[in-house]
Amino acid sequence: MALPTRVKLVDVGPRDGLQNEKQLVPATVKIELVHRLQAAGLKEIEVTSFVSPKWVPQMADNLEVMAGIQRQSGVRYSVLTPNLKGFEAAVAARPDEIVVFAAASEAFSQKNINCSIAESIERFAPVVEAARAAGIFVRGAMSCSVGCPYEGDIAPERVAYLAGLMKGIGVQHVGVADTIGVGTPRKVQRAMEATLQHYALDEVSGHFHDTYGQALANTLATLEMGVWQYDTSVSGLGGCPFAKGATGNVATEDVVYLLHGMDIDTGIDLQKLIDAGQYISEHLGRKSSSRAATALLNKRTS
Ligand code: HMG
Ligand code: MG
Repeated sequence: MALPTRVKLVDVGPRDGLQNEKQLVPATVKIELVHRLQAAGLKEIEVTSFVSPKWVPQMADNLEVMAGIQRQSGVRYSVLTPNLKGFEAAVAARPDEIVVFAAASEAFSQKNINCSIAESIERFAPVVEAARAAGIFVRGAMSCSVGCPYEGDIAPERVAYLAGLMKGIGVQHVGVADTIGVGTPRKVQRAMEATLQHYALDEVSGHFHDTYGQALANTLATLEMGVWQYDTSVSGLGGCPFAKGATGNVATEDVVYLLHGMDIDTGIDLQKLIDAGQYISEHLGRKSSSRAATALLNKRTS
């Protein structure tokens, strides 16, 4: 399989990146981050989630953030919706895309969304139906597609099973998520192959956390299968409050550096992206987790 010539990156930094921060990040900072990401050429941004503010206080300002964004034409804005209540709240914010999120592991499903995998699918079905009726695209996230913090290794058959359930309720695209970043290339390829039993190559993406430093290798391994859509997070921010020890997503800057170095187009201006990453890292008072951004920033100052 030839490598793709163009790759679409969804920056999930404002959502996956910030949901795990203990200190509340002001809505104005989140909005500015979204503005900087779109200025850098990101065409899809996962902005926030419409989940319970008791479970994830950091995302309680979802409506304020969505209302504050100056939308740029050609950019799509997505939000997470775990149930009808979240979807109904999200509709007022006019998202281009919603994300329903399930897990390949029963234990993680319980910890993350307080229900079984089967119950989660039952909850999502009316959400998917309502979203599609309203012309809103529906993406699905499949957490713990390689490993689970509670159950250990996850067999590809369980990923195939979940992908089949997602397809059955009309989810239009699914992301293979390595929530805790334990995957290595062959395992991630097997999870992706399992997903491809139910979805076409154009309907799948990779969502790799970088806890064990494998996310770039896993990105390359799936690029080699022809996958061309990935979720990444500016500065490598992120983690899930219900997956203890999991660190951020692979840094958007590192993936852009990898892709551009392989002559794969992303439409993203790496220098502007680095500026966006520096903006949020400075706000959080910490160094970027992106190796490429750190190296290029050092070069700028030397
Ligand atoms: P629950 O407690 O089982 O829900 O939570 P419930 O239906 O029993 O409702 C309990 C209370 O929550 C009620 O309020 C509801 O109104 C309220 P009360 O009457 O007690 O005041 N409620 C809501 N409030 C706002 N928005 C809503 C909503 N739904 C109910 N949508 C629920 C179930 C799913 C809501 C909860 O478990 C939850 O919010 N979990 C948060 C999950 C989450 O955000 N996880 C992180 C994102 S997923 C992720 O990071 C993984 C991903 O990146 C891929 C990967 O890396 O794996 C996508
Ligand atoms: Mg994630």
